[in-house]
Amino acid sequence: MCGIVGYVGEKLGLPIVIDCLTRLEYRGYDSSGVAYVDNEDLVVKKQLGKLNNLSSNLKNKIIPASCAIGHTRWATHGEPSIQNAHPQQDENKLLALVHNGIIENFNNHKQKLIGKGVKFTSQTDTEVIAQLLGRELQKVLNTGDNYSQNKMHSTMHSTSSLTKKQVLRAIHNVINSLDGAFAFAVVVKGMDDCIFFAKFKSPLILGKGIDENFLSSDATAILPYTNKIYSLMDGEFGYIDKKKIEVFNSSFKPVKVKFESLQIEPEQIMLGDYQHFMHKEIEQGAESVINTLDRLSSELQNLPNGIFLNDFNLHIVACGTALHAGRVGKYIIENQLRIPVNVDYASEFRYKNPILDNKSVCLFISQSGETADTLSSLELAKQKGAVTIAITNVPASRIEKIADYCIHTSAGPEIAVASTKAYLAQLAALYAFAEHIAKLRGIEISFSIKKIKTEVMRFSKFTYRDKLGDIVKDIKEQESVYFVGRGLDYILALESALKLKEISYIHCEAFPLGELKHGSLALINRESVVIAILTQKDLIEKTLNGIHELNSRGAKIILFSPFEELKDNVYKFIKTPLVDDCLSPFVVIKPLQILAYLTSLSKGLDPDKPRNLAKSVTVE
Ligand code: F6R
Repeated sequence: MCGIVGYVGEKLGLPIVIDCLTRLEYRGYDSSGVAYVDNEDLVVKKQLGKLNNLSSNLKNKIIPASCAIGHTRWATHGEPSIQNAHPQQDENKLLALVHNGIIENFNNHKQKLIGKGVKFTSQTDTEVIAQLLGRELQKVLNTGDNYSQNKMHSTMHSTSSLTKKQVLRAIHNVINSLDGAFAFAVVVKGMDDCIFFAKFKSPLILGKGIDENFLSSDATAILPYTNKIYSLMDGEFGYIDKKKIEVFNSSFKPVKVKFESLQIEPEQIMLGDYQHFMHKEIEQGAESVINTLDRLSSELQNLPNGIFLNDFNLHIVACGTALHAGRVGKYIIENQLRIPVNVDYASEFRYKNPILDNKSVCLFISQSGETADTLSSLELAKQKGAVTIAITNVPASRIEKIADYCIHTSAGPEIAVASTKAYLAQLAALYAFAEHIAKLRGIEISFSIKKIKTEVMRFSKFTYRDKLGDIVKDIKEQESVYFVGRGLDYILALESALKLKEISYIHCEAFPLGELKHGSLALINRESVVIAILTQKDLIEKTLNGIHELNSRGAKIILFSPFEELKDNVYKFIKTPLVDDCLSPFVVIKPLQILAYLTSLSKGLDPDKPRNLAKSVTVE
């Protein structure tokens, strides 16, 4: 969480940094800030709330700085406020620093520094890094540098005599004393030609341009400027200036940096004709399934396939929407292959002392590849000797680096906080995984990859907008909306409820339909709106029973189903595509995603940036 960016080059740095931050806002939008070096001056500007507040404040001001850093925040330590916004500074204002991550031992450091008389101005863990680094630099300025060959001037206030090497030494000392996760960028007063950085556990990439260089939490932020990317490894630190990039490892040895060209077209990260990324990404669902299915077969071949021929224990671990994809995966693998699968929330898995050994295969699903709980669970599974496989949408992400094997989804960059096309790509990867094991074991299954592709293409042009407007009116003023279904439809209900609640702020809850009468039916009255999903032919009768029970309590039932003949049983009916039962997750979710999107719009909310959330959840 939190996005950081840095630019150094021949152009005006600030507009570029602000532009890059717009593509990092998915990482948090509680506040934002920038810092730049203007000749001898180090200038910091911050604003509360979304980036717009900062950019409109800076608009029309021509600031000639060619070296700038920026930050967009998702608050961890300390409420969203100007004081807690980044950049953070040391007490002598020698530097300005932006950070993504969590410093676990910050309080120890903070208490020691306070004991030495250091004055803190924020509640953030980040300020500790700034203060520690500031003191290191001040030491150099006060006493001369122990490490440098050059004789230093002793001066309290000017940093113009600092060398890059001295700053790097100081950074090396500081990062050796930090526990936790960090990716930070620093500008130093008087050094208007370079940005320093360090990375451990939180993501940080460098981008190489012509007479300009970049750093960022994620490659898509800087993609309109360069696609030459180096993804820093843990423990690496260094600096960029407009011509040069120097990187060192944790032993302060130079690292040979090899830039790779990223194959993402800039249009993929632009809104184009859409008003919101969420809408664009919902519409890209079919493409995301097809691209994933077209590209992952060699990755499946590279798995340790011998293990699948004998008895093995399969676990799927993930969070949020990725977990819902995992539940569909469990349903399909158990139903079609008769192989038992455990599915766990990553945040629970790591604390339950899971039963794992070298016969265990664990699939970790994460769009971002950065989710802290998923990564910790992955590390635990490795320690316990399980075979670990990551399913991720972000190449070279942390999850890929840690897992034994990796299957990539090809949804393309997903920018809206609520996951839509990545969910479909995760389903595609799981169905392909199931089909792969079926082939290895010679099991016949009732779907094929070809059929999935045909079906998603066949229904990809359905927009649903006109049909759903009426339903939006029914739910937008509701305090609660309930979602029900059985079997696969219950799993779709879970995902649909999550989508609606996270961008409309309406309380939404999903129930297995048959469970209602064991308690939750008490919630239902004549005002209740219930969204029912029914796509499984053999569950029609049983589902109708539940629908009648709800009808008798006066609930307004809105049924999403391909079976039009059922429409007289309910208050409203939305016809969904008719496909083989086991393929329904691919085609039924779109109208429910669109419903969430339209409801958010009707409430005047920003569906791309729901309150309190961020796309990459890098804290536990
Ligand atoms: C909901 C949503 C989240 C993510 C979850 C896991 O729309 O996007 O529930 O699915 O935070 O994120 P990843 O897949 O990046 O690990």
